[in-house]
Amino acid sequence: MTDITFSAWLRDTLQGHGELPRDLLNTLEYTARACQEISANLARGALAGVLGQAGSDNVQGEAQKKLDVIANDILLQTHANGSYLASMASEEMDDPWPVENSIGRYLLVFDPLDGSSNIDINAPVGTIFSVLTLPEGASPDSHDAFLQAGSCQAAAGYALYGASTQLVLTLGFGVYVFTLDPRSQHFILTQSKLTIPTDTSEFAINMSNQRFWEPAVQRYIDELLAGREGPRERDFNMRWVAAMVADVHRILCRGGVFLYPLDSKTAAKGGKLRLLYEANPMGWLVQQAGGLVSTGRENILSIEPTGLHQRVPVILGAKHEVERLERYHREMN
Ligand code: AHG
Ligand code: MN
Ligand code: MN
Repeated sequence: MTDITFSAWLRDTLQGHGELPRDLLNTLEYTARACQEISANLARGALAGVLGQAGSDNVQGEAQKKLDVIANDILLQTHANGSYLASMASEEMDDPWPVENSIGRYLLVFDPLDGSSNIDINAPVGTIFSVLTLPEGASPDSHDAFLQAGSCQAAAGYALYGASTQLVLTLGFGVYVFTLDPRSQHFILTQSKLTIPTDTSEFAINMSNQRFWEPAVQRYIDELLAGREGPRERDFNMRWVAAMVADVHRILCRGGVFLYPLDSKTAAKGGKLRLLYEANPMGWLVQQAGGLVSTGRENILSIEPTGLHQRVPVILGAKHEVERLERYHREMN
């Protein structure tokens, strides 16, 4: 069987699904190119002097790593001259970054490097992105242009820089995985139409926050930990990579449930993870693979955002586990 490159797949998709506009195709092609370059920087790591702190804070008050800034610049510069993009917004920038002289209709919002606490220990990190359409009459430098529900995304995806570099994408007809061939430097289609089983015995949560969770999440995790002797009558396994992109990738590949729930430490901010460039794109991918995505109280993809850097509680993955968590939230809060 001949390899299907990302570019060839996009072109075929353009024909097969009639209406994939060329602007969207360019947005995705150039995003893949930027991810290749980020991957190359990560691969050289300490050799390129790119590890460690940048010595600055982002808009969220988080200390930036050098690679947070480098990855952000690579994405901006790769798209800077493209008239297909109207504007970009990122975790690492206070405000949107309109593309000069562009007549483009698309908006790109990204977390240039997710899980950046993993960088200095040579553990997996990723880039998460979401493509939106510039609303009629909206200004590309306004925050408002980006404040769209996750259900409005034109495309969503991520690159995972792990043992290999993979690009995972949805355009609304399933989830597709492309693996970067380090020899040819092409992304090659390696998996199509991922599906998340409705049941699981594997969960992902930062257990150190246990005492800060709400009662519904306390109850749910207590029941999982009780295993065979508890109400669930089976043992559960736990995994936590500390990079949402890698934890969600595992769920897309072999199932599971992921929680970054509301806790009393982050409640004032609305949660830990960001709606526009973490929860929405990862949520749409999960939903496209047959999983569910919720705050515990509502479907994340139907939230009307009020801020570019808005945070939300995130519960996603196996359908029956997310439904159970929503029931516990209804019963206990
Ligand atoms: P980022 O590196 O983009 O700020 O995101 C980190 C997020 C997410 O990727 C991960 O799930 C979570 O923070 C890790 O949180 P803990 O530090 O609580 O493990
Ligand atoms: Mn992140
Ligand atoms: Mn980040």
